Amino acid sequence: MIPVLAIDGPSGSGKGAVGMGVADRLGWHYLDSGAVYRALGLAASWAQVGCDDEQGLRTLAAGLDLRFVAGSAAEPEVYVNGRECGVALRSREAADAASRVAVLPGVRQALLERQRAARRPPGLVADGRDMGSHVFPDAFLKVYLTASPEVRAARRLNQLKAKGFSVTLPQLIQEIRERDERDASRAVAPLKPAPGAIVLDSSALGLQDVIDRVLAMASDSSQSAVTPRIKD
Ligand code: DC
Repeated sequence: MIPVLAIDGPSGSGKGAVGMGVADRLGWHYLDSGAVYRALGLAASWAQVGCDDEQGLRTLAAGLDLRFVAGSAAEPEVYVNGRECGVALRSREAADAASRVAVLPGVRQALLERQRAARRPPGLVADGRDMGSHVFPDAFLKVYLTASPEVRAARRLNQLKAKGFSVTLPQLIQEIRERDERDASRAVAPLKPAPGAIVLDSSALGLQDVIDRVLAMASDSSQSAVTPRIKD
């Protein structure tokens, strides 16, 4: 059985950077499931399919061509339906569209197998909202990473500014609260800690600290059928 380490949590909790760091240290694959929902949100806006058109979105999801191409930059280039999305995938508009399409059960179902297909040897670190609860319920370690809305908004502000977006902290705090509310209150796969998840508040921790703590949890995990091979 290929081991999965699931990291779920709200926007700005640091799960992307932590997930990539942990995957790198373990030499495992990494799944950014938020990027899958963001890609569908972008594809929908290009094709003028409404964020509430479940049937249209299911069709788009079934044919979604999503490719990550590693280059010289820290983050891979992302191609959606053959089109390089650049920073558009990380925009607030893509995040908002992702959160809207993600409410629809048919969309979540249509994207399920695509996410499960990322489970390849020697192991997978998967980040999102429902990795531990729905997509990989047999993950040997489930971490629910969180931080206060203010800390998360400040992190998002730095990320967005670094990518050239113009936005203010109060706008982001408001958007994060709205997105949290939508993600947590939806009927299917709502944002909440999976049963058995270890909750880790990263508000006062640096990135490297969080990565080290997750790696320590991984090697301590007694539920693990497979002991992760930790690179130095
Ligand atoms: O992690 P992110 O901010 O890139 O995710 C964007 C949106 O996608 C998020 O607000 C909700 C949705 N999402 C989801 O519903 N389930 C996931 N596993 C990942 C993301």
